[in-house]
Amino acid sequence: MMYSLQTDHGKRIPLHDEAAFAAMRRVGRVAADTLDMIAPHVKPGISTAELDALCEAYMRQVGSIPATIGYNGYQHASCISVNHVVTHGIPSHTKYLREGDIVNIDVTPLLDGWHGDTSRTFQVGAVSILAERLVKKTYEAMFAGINAVRPGATLGDVGAAIEAVVRAHGFSSVRDFCGHGIGQIFHDAPQVLHYGRAGAGVVLEPGMIFTIEPMLNAGGHHVKVLRDEWTTVTKDHSLSAQFEHTVAVTDVGVEIFTLSAAERTRLTPASGAQVRASLNAMPEHRTA
Ligand code: MF3
Ligand code: CO
Ligand code: CO
Repeated sequence: MMYSLQTDHGKRIPLHDEAAFAAMRRVGRVAADTLDMIAPHVKPGISTAELDALCEAYMRQVGSIPATIGYNGYQHASCISVNHVVTHGIPSHTKYLREGDIVNIDVTPLLDGWHGDTSRTFQVGAVSILAERLVKKTYEAMFAGINAVRPGATLGDVGAAIEAVVRAHGFSSVRDFCGHGIGQIFHDAPQVLHYGRAGAGVVLEPGMIFTIEPMLNAGGHHVKVLRDEWTTVTKDHSLSAQFEHTVAVTDVGVEIFTLSAAERTRLTPASGAQVRASLNAMPEHRTA
């Protein structure tokens, strides 16, 4: 393993080789396929535990292991966060989806020793205008961050690009959780903040692999962790949405390992410039 000469909070930042990229493409595809599989199940009346069980069965069926099971004592194959739950919602047999909910499903399969981490916020039937706008802007904020990724740019550029979208629409960006380096280690250096100052922070180098996973709140940015020590909610109980992709810095721009099937059809697999040109509209994440 090679490392950058830069560190982040005193930790070395890995620079991954072509074999690592190949492994990340495989596990990223499993992660994306898991969410593509679950999408049609995200309907009124299903419990979040049932959704989790479907995700777990799928990840195992294709030969991967849900990396979240046993991670710091977490016991489930996914995190499922409904409405004002910001992140790390625990799947439950007594939590049923209802029309109008927004629900984030976050999965991290482990395949051949490599992690792929992705999440999407789904709309359950018809949702409020506010909820729809929040979800759409969260997706745009994630892609604003992704589109800032290229060699020589900084993580501050990524955070600032996200924050610009968030502020333009009157939402707030959660500060207590961030994206992270990922590879053979689930949560590695660097930390990827979803706010920041252009030009500040780690300078991006080809071979860096990390997640971008902004959480946007309709109200203030403050969150609180419930007594189960996982479930994180907005302090003001406002709605929260999140999207997450696992990406890499390439020689020319960015590669996204966790594209959905819908996103793949809108993308030509080429330079960062083409990624920027072709990604703008959110795929259909509303369910009947
Ligand atoms: N997938 C989450 C992330 O985006 C982490 C979940 S850890 C768990 O980083 F233990 F809560 F599952
Ligand atoms: Co993550
Ligand atoms: Co995740």
